[in-house]
Amino acid sequence: MPNPTLSITDNRTGRKYELPIENGAIRAVDLRQIKVEPSDFGLLSYDPAFLNTASCRSRITFIDGDRGILRYRGYPIEQLAEKSSYLEVSYLIINGELPNAAQFEQWNHDITHHTFLHENLKSFMQGFRYDAHPMGILVSTVAALSTFYLESKQVHDAAIRRLNMTRLIAKLPTIAAWSYRNALGLPYVYPDDELSFVGNLLAMMKKMAERKYVPTPVLERALDVLFILHVDHEQNCSTSTMRSVGSSFADPFVSVAAAAAALYGPLHGGANEEVLRMLREIGSVDKVPAFVKSVKDGESGRLMGFGHRVYKSYDPRAKVIQKMADEVFSVTGTNPLLKIALELERIALEDDYFIKRKLYPNVDFYSGLIYQSLGFPVEMFPVLFAIPRVSGWLAQWEEMLEDKEQKIARPRQLYLGEDERDFVAIEKRAPTAKKS
Ligand code: ACO
Repeated sequence: MPNPTLSITDNRTGRKYELPIENGAIRAVDLRQIKVEPSDFGLLSYDPAFLNTASCRSRITFIDGDRGILRYRGYPIEQLAEKSSYLEVSYLIINGELPNAAQFEQWNHDITHHTFLHENLKSFMQGFRYDAHPMGILVSTVAALSTFYLESKQVHDAAIRRLNMTRLIAKLPTIAAWSYRNALGLPYVYPDDELSFVGNLLAMMKKMAERKYVPTPVLERALDVLFILHVDHEQNCSTSTMRSVGSSFADPFVSVAAAAAALYGPLHGGANEEVLRMLREIGSVDKVPAFVKSVKDGESGRLMGFGHRVYKSYDPRAKVIQKMADEVFSVTGTNPLLKIALELERIALEDDYFIKRKLYPNVDFYSGLIYQSLGFPVEMFPVLFAIPRVSGWLAQWEEMLEDKEQKIARPRQLYLGEDERDFVAIEKRAPTAKKS
């Protein structure tokens, strides 16, 4: 059909309307012409939590939740996980194409040369208490970067924008590693330019007295694959936050801090941390059936690492991680919690409650087990999620800034509160009933 439309009849007035359909969507603003009285504001669409509202047109990430498909810039996630590296995917997500050899060399060089933090930031980070959650440190320190790069406010200058995007991608591992060392009371380790992006992160976290830290190749590759899987996931909670905060033309540092804050929550990037806590709490395989029952009865909260707003089948990222787990465990030894996780998955996938609601393991169900086997404490899990996701946030932020249709994000509301009423002096207000 060349110009598809939607016909609407307003049964309040009997009037008919034809709304154009473009890319499988109507424009919510076209509903505004539907009024009973000419002075009405016009019909709104009500969509709490944006279950059915597209807030942008994007060319970055494609997800088909029913078929379990995830593609970055058209490339299937499975191929990228098998054949690419995080840095290459980071270039792809931001620039739209895979880099050629010269472009990759330049990108690698640019990222490697922006990994250092200003020394003042070091003392800023040392101000946190020994038990500060590393995600809280990351959110605050990324926001603090805004005070070091004042020109970053010029968000419409493409060259300045790109420089600060490079800084963010490069400096996140350093902030992450130092937030970890902070908790252990260990001296901060400076970046090592001779190591890969992931190898350098591992070195900054784990290096002790040895002259040079040499990462184990299987573990280095496993972390790189985990990073590829976490680069972008279209308009999720943290990415929408990035776009929303960025839409007021806030600088990229404070915008990324806001996105990272959204990621921190247990229903989003904090879920992998919760999965590990949940598996520990279950304790042994024989306790799994009782735990699943308590979830269904609403006594134990949700089954963490299960369910997804978009995927109504197996999360393709969880499949890649599951396959990779064997390679990691061949080096680190099997994670004792794996048996509980596998049993939990088996029982849940056969249970009517989960089948009916199309609840499958998501990316966080197995990523925590691998992070734990790599020797990271649970508090670091959301931080490890944020390191690669910053590439996705920045790609989406830049796309938003270059999109002529975008304006400052500002949803509407349906006001259901009191109508106008007169102020009552305090002595005339009804007393509160005393508790017995
Ligand atoms: N355990 C038990 N029940 C669940 C779960 C779960 N993990 N997830 C959803 N449900 C149930 C809900 O109670 C609801 O049941 P009802 O219809 O009887 O009320 C139904 O499934 C639909 O759930 P919603 O909350 O409407 O689904 P929504 O799309 O809003 O939530 C979310 C998605 C937040 C991911 C949810 O599935 C959840 O809380 N999962 C656990 C946390 C988690 O793993 N988050 C990580 C997501 S991946 C990521 O962010 C990287």
